[in-house]
Amino acid sequence: MKAVVFDRHGTPDELHLADMERPHPGPGEVRVRVRAAGIQPFDVGVRGGSLPFPVTFPQQLGNEFSGVVDRVGDDAGEWAAGDEVLGWAFMRSLAEYVVTGADSIVSKPPDMPWDVAGGLSSSGATAYTALRVLDIRPRDTLLVHAAAGGTGTIATQLARAWGASVIGTASEANHAYLAQLGATPVSYGDGLVERVRAVAPDGVDAALDAVGGQALHDSVDLVRDKNRIATLVDHELADELGVVGVRAQRVPEQLGDLVSLYQRGALRMPIRERFPLAAIADAHRLVETGHGRGKVVVTLDD
Ligand SMILES: NC(=O)c1ccc[n+]([C@@H]2O[C@H](COP(=O)([O-])OP(=O)(O)OC[C@H]3O[C@@H](n4cnc5c(N)ncnc54)[C@H](OP(=O)(O)O)[C@@H]3O)[C@@H](O)[C@H]2O)c1
Repeated sequence: MKAVVFDRHGTPDELHLADMERPHPGPGEVRVRVRAAGIQPFDVGVRGGSLPFPVTFPQQLGNEFSGVVDRVGDDAGEWAAGDEVLGWAFMRSLAEYVVTGADSIVSKPPDMPWDVAGGLSSSGATAYTALRVLDIRPRDTLLVHAAAGGTGTIATQLARAWGASVIGTASEANHAYLAQLGATPVSYGDGLVERVRAVAPDGVDAALDAVGGQALHDSVDLVRDKNRIATLVDHELADELGVVGVRAQRVPEQLGDLVSLYQRGALRMPIRERFPLAAIADAHRLVETGHGRGKVVVTLDD
């Protein structure tokens, strides 16, 4: 099979396709023929070497996928060849085939496109984990920093589905998009605290930060309860300020919840751009800009 690998840290040009043996599913595992796989800032950081994550060269990449089960190991539950699924496989999803745990996939509804399914599980798990940590409830007002990105897009819609109001930060180009998701858009940067106060005269109950630095300081100015301020990115500053650092937990029931929300029309995930597997370097370049809405995905042929 073809798989995305890199042989040393560096620019997106270090990424290339390698021929590898198809992996075999062991007990409790399934093999999936991948149809789409999302790209995350995490992948970009690991490739570039800015994230201190242990790698073994040639190193595969990619954490989320959609596809069709093509082999089932012993004791892998009810899964059968031909099942259409989405799920997780850490550091190996950008490949034609991926092996993962039978509890790391959920069924893909027929009306969910492959690319949407392929980019849903990692941002979905992050948003779900963070909103649970923040204990988001009906009538809360939640501030989501970087609300137009992959994680923010899901966090915004999930919070709305749970009955909260959302104020989302984004560049002006993404304000209409945030309004469509049900958030009140606010521009990030200097003066954010005043702009948020102007649209939330009754205050902000919780904040989810996917930016770090000043966005986290601003959150502390806006939210009284430090247990209801969470960052996905700035764990050092979180310790300093006494707020919560969050790392995504991958829970199949939660991914199932997100799929149900999608089926009810309460969740959508726009695709920023699709790339063929061979154009993985371009996909990384786009994610690396740090701007845009929804998800960047790689798609593979049937
Ligand atoms: N802890 C974890 O487990 C975990 C899991 C997933 C992600 N993360 C981290 O969370 C961050 C976001 O991930 P993502 O997948 O959502 O990224 P993404 O899809 O690349 O989105 C990035 C977003 O950031 C916005 N942005 C850029 N500069 C900003 C600023 N100064 N203030 C506010 N927003 C700004 C952009 O909006 P505009 O286009 O409008 O500028 C864009 O929509 C990344 O750093 C990622 O590594 C952590």
